[in-house]
Amino acid sequence: MYTAKQLQEKVQKLFADEVFLDEPKELYEPIAYTLALGGKRIRPLLLLAATELFGGEIEQAFNYAIGIETFHNFTLLHDDLMDKSPIRRGQPTVYRKWDENTAILSGDAMNILAWRYFIKQEHPKMRQILNTFEKTSMEICEGQQYDMNFETRDDVSLSEYMEMIRLKTAVLLAAALKIGALTAQADSADIERIYQFGIHIGLAFQLRDDLLDAYGDPATFGKQTGTDIKDNKKTYLFLLALQKGTKEQRNRLTELFKSHPENPEAKINEVLEIYKTLDIRNDVESAIKRLHQDAASCLDDIRKPENNKTLLRELAAKLLDRNV
Ligand code: IPE
Ligand code: IPE
Ligand code: MG
Ligand code: MG
Ligand code: MG
Repeated sequence: MYTAKQLQEKVQKLFADEVFLDEPKELYEPIAYTLALGGKRIRPLLLLAATELFGGEIEQAFNYAIGIETFHNFTLLHDDLMDKSPIRRGQPTVYRKWDENTAILSGDAMNILAWRYFIKQEHPKMRQILNTFEKTSMEICEGQQYDMNFETRDDVSLSEYMEMIRLKTAVLLAAALKIGALTAQADSADIERIYQFGIHIGLAFQLRDDLLDAYGDPATFGKQTGTDIKDNKKTYLFLLALQKGTKEQRNRLTELFKSHPENPEAKINEVLEIYKTLDIRNDVESAIKRLHQDAASCLDDIRKPENNKTLLRELAAKLLDRNV
């Protein structure tokens, strides 16, 4: 069995060995730039860890690991344009460093590249692996559309929010694990369990991302903070505050989350002040813990020795406790 560190090194090496530069350079340079910035590379790690758990050959999963991370990075190029985010991984986002059209087209090319990695890998479970990847890709588009739709709605429920983040974030982590398990030819009941583990981890992961958007340190988080409040994103924090707040606080939050001030500092501070009086941060931490426990029990049910599961347990714990 590999340790988390060994697997991490494998993933780093996979990307170090790939050449993304080609002609025309205007198309490929932003791709190489994005993939060189790294990030946590959590999706390929989960994918390989799942192959390991079920006793598969991780070499058979390498193309899927590169493919899924390339796909994830494609979604970030478009997401940063949609969210008007200036910084990612501590560096200018592609649409800022180049321009909007570059982010669109280089993003499109990364989506195609991702498919190239997937289809070049021969595997007995190829059909199921490609189906999983296709379904997941479309779900992410659906989730991203809901995320945008919610910006201009003032009646979003917590369950609608959970479904939105399931689609935009959780399904990709879950698919990474499922594809890893398919590579190892795990049985279908266990594949469903590892997928559900991924969904719960993924939901908690997005709650952590929402928390970090409000309270993270931009120097370590690598992204500008306060952007969800600025953009009127209906995050878990906001929806919880609406539920817990007094009538006055609810009205004020609703009003603030319709506004688009030129200078958002005052708005961000006022919202954070309301969150503070309502102890929102603690509640989100508790929700993350609950989801983490639910995830752990999905892993418990998998019919493999406990030893095989240690790596995923470790990865999940680190991921949900992160500040990057
Ligand atoms: C960012 O994903 C998008 C979300 C789903 C929150 P990551 O937090 O995995 O970003 P990187 O790849 O590590 O930069
Ligand atoms: C992003 O959610 C989900 C996808 C990229 C599909 P966010 O918009 O919250 O991600 P960050 O905070 O920009 O990384
Ligand atoms: Mg974003
Ligand atoms: Mg977004
Ligand atoms: Mg975010």
